[in-house]
Amino acid sequence: MAKKNIKLRGFFITIEGLEGSGKSSVIKSLTKFIKDKGFSLKVHREPGSTRIGEKIRKILLDNKNNELSVHTELLLYLAARTQLIEEKLKEDFFINDFVICDRFFDSTLVYQGFALGLGEIVNKSVQMFSLGVTPDLTIVLDTPARKGLSRLKNKDRIESRPLQFHNKLRKGYLYLAKEYPERVKIINARNSLDKVCQNVHKLVEKTFL
Ligand code: TMP
Repeated sequence: MAKKNIKLRGFFITIEGLEGSGKSSVIKSLTKFIKDKGFSLKVHREPGSTRIGEKIRKILLDNKNNELSVHTELLLYLAARTQLIEEKLKEDFFINDFVICDRFFDSTLVYQGFALGLGEIVNKSVQMFSLGVTPDLTIVLDTPARKGLSRLKNKDRIESRPLQFHNKLRKGYLYLAKEYPERVKIINARNSLDKVCQNVHKLVEKTFL
């Protein structure tokens, strides 16, 4: 087991970033890196990874749902999260060395709290509905908003928001990294994919192995 592990559960790593920052490719590569070292690992995504969470995801990302109010949006993200935690994560932590989640509560802090401007209500509700689960390490893939967006083909409801919204996301993530330097680490995602993956592997190795 990993050298810093005296605890009873697996390590929880979350991957965050703007749209088109390359999360999926990085998660694929990190999964291989961790499994090749002989550790067990489970990967989830947010919103989603449960039957109910995937239905909520469809509602949230559907371009037709433009009447969705900002508070309903917040509640749906929280609902998908509690479902994932209660249905899967809590158990996964006990049977795996690592759990990786593609986005977690930092997305809510940044997207709904910071960029949509819901502020304090988000901080409080995120705390309540994360049910005590906090990542051990959060990796933010940092890329300029315009660059990430230019990589996308069919934009969903959130991706279709104005550039100004996406610029705020980046500031939000950088703020979180300053506020929680032990947990939230920024990786420059403007480098080549190989370089980004290498840097992520190094960070995970240094933190846990
Ligand atoms: P993605 O994981 O494929 O990037 O899609 C999820 C989308 O939902 C993405 O635009 C970020 C957004 N999101 C929020 O706005 N708040 C949240 O709490 C989460 C988890 C995701």
